[in-house]
Amino acid sequence: MSLAGAVRGAVSATTAGPEESVRAMAAGPAAGLPTREHPRGNEPIRTLLEAPVESGPVRAVRRPSGLVHGYDGSLAVPLAQDRPVVIANFATALDGAVAMDRDGRTSGGDVSGFSPTDRFVMGLLRAVADTVIVGAGTVRGSSGRAWTPEAVCPTHSEDYAELRRDLGLARQATTLIVTATGDLDPGLPALVRPRAPTIVAGPAAAIARLRAAGLPDEIVMRTIGEDGGLGSEGLAALLADLGGRVALFEGGPRLFGAFLAANLVDELFLTLAPQLVGRSDRAPRLALVEESVLWPELPRWAELRSVRSAGSHLLLRYRLRERDRSSSAP
Ligand SMILES: NC(=O)c1ccc[n+]([C@@H]2O[C@H](COP(=O)([O-])OP(=O)(O)OC[C@H]3O[C@@H](n4cnc5c(N)ncnc54)[C@H](OP(=O)(O)O)[C@@H]3O)[C@@H](O)[C@H]2O)c1
Repeated sequence: MSLAGAVRGAVSATTAGPEESVRAMAAGPAAGLPTREHPRGNEPIRTLLEAPVESGPVRAVRRPSGLVHGYDGSLAVPLAQDRPVVIANFATALDGAVAMDRDGRTSGGDVSGFSPTDRFVMGLLRAVADTVIVGAGTVRGSSGRAWTPEAVCPTHSEDYAELRRDLGLARQATTLIVTATGDLDPGLPALVRPRAPTIVAGPAAAIARLRAAGLPDEIVMRTIGEDGGLGSEGLAALLADLGGRVALFEGGPRLFGAFLAANLVDELFLTLAPQLVGRSDRAPRLALVEESVLWPELPRWAELRSVRSAGSHLLLRYRLRERDRSSSAP
C-alpha cells in the first residue's frame, strides 16, 4: 500500500465513527485489516478432536489426498434415509458477529480475515453438496458469481472436481436462492450467466415480481409458501422437493433463523475467527441467528463433533439435530 493509502486508512480507522468506518471499508479497507491479498488464518489445519463417525450411511471424502491432507483427515457427512441432510457453514467473530453491517457492504471475508484455510473448508463442503442454499440477503450483498468450490478456493479446483466425480455427483451443486419478496436485481453478479444450475424459490407474488424483472431463462423459478415467507412446512417441502442427499446451507443469519426454527439443520460447521468486532446502535452487526427467537420455546443445544485449528482460527463442527432412527441402520 502506498504511504498516502496507509495514511488514509489510518485516518479512517481513528477518526471516523463506526458507520463511516464501514462505508470506508466498502471503498477500501483500513490499514492493518486483512484483505484477500493479505489474509489471516493461512496455517495448516490440525485436528484437535474428532468424534467417531456415526453409524449408518455417510458421504465421505477419502481421496484425493490433497483434500484429506488439507483437512487433516477424512470428512464424513452422515446421511438420512428419506430426506437431504442440511449442513450449515458460517464464519463468526469471537463476539458472535457474522456480518459487519446489515446490507452486505462487507463480506464474510471481513469476518474470517479472508482466511485461506476457511475458504478451503468452504470449498470442501460445497464439493460434497448436491445443493447450496442461500438467502436473498446474502445474494444481494455478494459480489461473487457462484457458490462453487473453485470460486472460493481455486487452488484446489481439480481436487474438488475429482471428488465430485468420485462421489458420482453432478459437476456443480445446484444453487438455491430463497426469497420472500422477490427483491433480486437480475443484474446481480450471481444471476448473470450463473455458473451453476440455479433455482430461485419463493411465494407466488415474489416469483411474479422476478418474472416481471426478467431473470435469465436458465434460472429456474419455484413457487412455494405463503406470501410473507416460508414457514417450517414450506422450508421442509422445499428441501424434499430439491432431492439429493446433502444440502449445504451458507447463510445468511435471517434464513438460518427460519431453518433453525423449523429444526431442519443437521450440522453446523463454524469457523471462529480470532477477532472482536464490537457493535453499537450506529454500527449494528448481524449475529449468527437473526429474526428468529429460539430460546426458551425452541431450545437448540448442539453436540460437539470435531475441533480443528488453523493457527488461531478454530474450525468447530456441531451436530444440531438427532440422527433419524431410520437412517442409523447399517
Ligand atoms: N459470516 C458468514 O459466514 C456469513 C454467511 C452468509 C452471509 N453472511 C452475511 O450476512 C449478511 C446478510 O444477512 P441476511 O440475514 O440479510 O441474509 P439472508 O438470510 O441470506 O437473507 C435474508 C433474506 O432471505 C429471505 N428469507 C429469509 N427467511 C425467509 C423465509 N422464511 N422464507 C422466504 N424467504 C426468506 C428474505 O429475502 P427477501 O428480502 O428477498 O424477501 C430475507 O430478507 C451479508 O452481509 C452476508 O455477507 C455472512
